Formats: sequence, C-alpha cells, structure tokens
Amino acid sequence: MDPQTYYDEFAEREWKRLDRDPVTRMEFENTADYLAEHLPDAAARTDESDPVRVLDAGGAAGRYACWLAERGYDVTLVDLSAEQVELAREKAAERGVADRVAAERGDVRDLRFADDSFDAVCCLGGPLSHVVDDDERATATAELRRVAKPRAPVFVSVIGRFAMLRDILKFCLDDEHGLLAPIAEDGDYTAERTAEYADGDGWAECHGFRADEFETQLEAAGFEVETLVGLENVANRMKRELAEADEEAVESVRELVRTLREDRTAVDFSEHMLAVCRA
Ligand SMILES: C[S@@+](CC[C@H](N)C(=O)[O-])C[C@H]1O[C@@H](n2cnc3c(N)ncnc32)[C@H](O)[C@@H]1O
Repeated sequence: MDPQTYYDEFAEREWKRLDRDPVTRMEFENTADYLAEHLPDAAARTDESDPVRVLDAGGAAGRYACWLAERGYDVTLVDLSAEQVELAREKAAERGVADRVAAERGDVRDLRFADDSFDAVCCLGGPLSHVVDDDERATATAELRRVAKPRAPVFVSVIGRFAMLRDILKFCLDDEHGLLAPIAEDGDYTAERTAEYADGDGWAECHGFRADEFETQLEAAGFEVETLVGLENVANRMKRELAEADEEAVESVRELVRTLREDRTAVDFSEHMLAVCRA
C-alpha cells in the first residue's frame, strides 16, 4: 500500500503507536533520552518572539510534536497524510499546546521551508523508510539538512532491514512469497513486490536500512553523524512476551536495551535505528 493511503486509514493507531506495549515504549523513551540530551534548551530562550523552532517531518498524529511543545519548543509538523495532520491538530488542542504546534500537509521530499529555518529537525519513526525510491530518499535526506540551521541537531529514525526480514519470517516461515532474498539484498518492501508475492496485502511500502547504509546516506547529505542508536535492539519482536511479563522483568529488559543501544550490532538488528546528527 502507498504510505499516504495507509496512514490516512490508520491515523488513531499512529497516535497510540508509541504507547502500545513495552517495546514501542522503549522506542519512545530511548528517542526522548537523546532529544532531551541534544536539543537546545527551550527554557534558556527568554525572548518569546524568538522560540526554539523544531521541525517534526513525518510527525503523524503528533506524539513527538506534543511532547516537544510541552517542553517549550515551537513545533512545525508536516506529514503526507491529511488524516494524521488533522489528528495532530486535535491532540495538540486537547493537550493545551495548540499555540506551539503548527501542523500541515507536506512531503519530506520537497519541504516548503527556506534554508536554515529550524533550530532542530526530527524525522522519527520511519518516514524516510517510507520513501522507497533511492534517489527520492537521498533528496528527502538532503531536505532535512537544508532546512536545519548550521550545526543544528537533527534526529532521524528509520526501520531496520534485519527486523523487517524477521517480521516477514514470523508471518511466513516457509517464505512462500519469495520476499526474503530480494529484501535482504536491497531492503525494499515495494508495492510491486507485495502485489506480485503477497496479493497486495501487507504494510505500507518501506525501505529497511542497514546501519552502514544509513550512516552513508546521512553523510552523503552533508550530516555529521554523532551517534547511532538501536532503539529496541534485544527487545525486538518481544511485544507479546513483554506485555505479559511483570514490571520487574520489563524493567530489567529496558535496562539491558539501554546498555546495548549504541552497540553497532544492536543498532543493525533493531526495529528502529536512530541517528543523532549535526547539520
Ligand atoms: C510510522 S509513522 C511515524 C510517525 C511519528 N513520527 C512517530 O514516530 O510515531 C510514519 C509517518 O511518516 C509519514 N510519511 C511517509 N512518507 C512521507 C513523506 N514523503 N513526507 C512526509 N511524511 C511522510 C506517514 O504519513 C506517517 O504518518
């Protein structure tokens, strides 16, 4: 399915996505740790007419945008899906931060903002993975850098290729659709492939990244990559088990994931990998 149709259909689910189970909460908590560490201090800007401006590209229903606005940032959210944008406006209003969240339809491949517009840029939870064409993905990555001020922190998280393969394996162990080898080779879960192999059923089109490839793509766009983070790493595909586990067990896994999160193998293996970069 194309990403716009998919995310229009599942808007409310995206709002709940990062709270659905202990593993998605790890994605959120680990991302929030790096945002808190690297974002400029919003409270230090005393001039209200000059807030810290953050772009949330592919921000969906506004989960990160609201979190940022609640911490004093002035957020511009863009998303391909009109339904997600509408929900982001509603959620920002419900949470009392509508004055600090501007949500609009937009495409990360062609952002309407001037060069050097933002003090920080986020593109979290896989919007870049949904740009499956290699050249368009390179353009989208360059767009994220173009709109960031020089040396601004930029946070990008994408979907990992190994975890994607593991997902396909989980649902068709015998690989009857023959998807595994081509996806292992180039990472592309395309509409053509799912139409050919899986009767068009399945998830939004997606590119699964290797860690090296992710870093190379960011550097080619001119970013300095400071850290790569495996957001779920050893807790990958443990959603059901951890949802049924007691709090103490979940806490020990959370701690292990935190310990391993910058390990290169853990990054490569993770469902989502985050890059903390400088423009
Ligand atoms: C998995 S959601 C992640 C949303 C949110 N950032 C998060 O972390 O929960 C991916 C979002 O990227 C959006 N998206 C996909 N391709 C995009 C594009 N080319 N430009 C802007 N948004 C896009 C989708 O509409 C969807 O809302």
